[in-house]
Amino acid sequence: MAHTAKAHFTTTVEDVDPLVADALASERTRQQNQIELIASENIVSRAVLDALGHEITNKTLEGYPGNRFHGGGQFVDIAEQAAIDRAKQLFNCGYANVQPHSGTQANLAVFFLLLKPGEKVLSLDLAAGGHLSHGMKANLSGRWFDANNYNVNPQNEVIDLDEMERLAEEIRPKLLITGGSAYPRELDFERMSRIAKKVGAYFLVDMAHIAGLVAGGVHPSPFPHADIVTCTTTKTLRGPRGGLILTNNEEWYKKLQAAVFPGVQGSLHSNVLAAKAICLGEALRDDFKVYTRQVVENAKVLANTLADRGVRIVSGGTDTHIVLLDLSSKGLLGKQAETLLARANITSNKNPIPGDSPRPPEWVGMRLGSSAATTRGLKEEEFRILGTVIADLIDAEVAGKADEVVEGAKAKIAELTNKFPVYGQ
Ligand SMILES: Cc1ncc(COP(=O)(O)O)c(C=O)c1O
Repeated sequence: MAHTAKAHFTTTVEDVDPLVADALASERTRQQNQIELIASENIVSRAVLDALGHEITNKTLEGYPGNRFHGGGQFVDIAEQAAIDRAKQLFNCGYANVQPHSGTQANLAVFFLLLKPGEKVLSLDLAAGGHLSHGMKANLSGRWFDANNYNVNPQNEVIDLDEMERLAEEIRPKLLITGGSAYPRELDFERMSRIAKKVGAYFLVDMAHIAGLVAGGVHPSPFPHADIVTCTTTKTLRGPRGGLILTNNEEWYKKLQAAVFPGVQGSLHSNVLAAKAICLGEALRDDFKVYTRQVVENAKVLANTLADRGVRIVSGGTDTHIVLLDLSSKGLLGKQAETLLARANITSNKNPIPGDSPRPPEWVGMRLGSSAATTRGLKEEEFRILGTVIADLIDAEVAGKADEVVEGAKAKIAELTNKFPVYGQ
């Protein structure tokens, strides 16, 4: 095909790149035909997709609305300002930076803002549900800072606040972090902020997983307790891939702007900023509150259905969208269960549980989440079916009879995916 300007602007991906076009088409079909139970995923609205694939992606800008390093930013300014205003309104805080390219970048900017290399951090242990950007040794946060962990109580698997207080007094961290990627229980921000104050630490809440639940009013807000809050716009907030940083501290805010750009990032992602504005606008609507209530109800039904079938649920249940399974209760590994569920078109992930092996192939945990399937319209009845299908698969695998039940399980999932289509497929 002649490489003319006209062809550049009109040739579709199907015509120009069959390899990638096929991958895109297959991914669309995969999303339609499977039930997504990975807790960090969700399904964005058509409006969010429209913004992500819009020509606005061509615009390069550095700086902030009204104060850019390049010309032609007047329309991105509108989108970014809308995202800032909506984030402040949604989370009831004074200042928002909406530019972080991801949740990890948001945390990195906060580290850059508040800490010097070598200073002490106290965060939730990775196997207890923490996140790698809170001080894992293989991450910059753990390589350049002195990261220490608090844990959950081994009996009830809920964060042990007395232990956190004891450790904070002993370690005297400069930054206390809470939040994680596999912690299913409500977080007590008030008590944690008192612990931080007592030892003179700043208090960072990384609400990446629960931001949507906070927005919908089904999880307490980190404000006014946190000094600074980070999150992703993916997951329960149901937006594009990216991060936010929120605070009420005016003095920090000015430095925070510089910590994001030019501190840890260069130019912004214009299309993602527009998509963030849209998802934050969606989260301000009343129907989002209804959605988040359903997310939590569905997770509880999933947890109860599995528990009734003898699968041990870490911490005994959930207050959020996350259900963490201890598959050692059935003599299985997380990776085995992940592969088994995938055979029936249920997508999930192996995960460590408190006290689990440091080696992923040996993990006995599996993390499930209700956000994406709830977006499709599944309610309690369908989550009961999902729980039963998963328990049937697990029991059959344990009995060495998985082959006998996979087809039936697949058919039940197909019924659900046909009844609750995505993007009008
Ligand atoms: C608690 C927490 N913080 C940060 C992140 C990082 O987000 P990203 O993958 O956008 O860097 C995640 C993502 O899973 C998370 O769960």
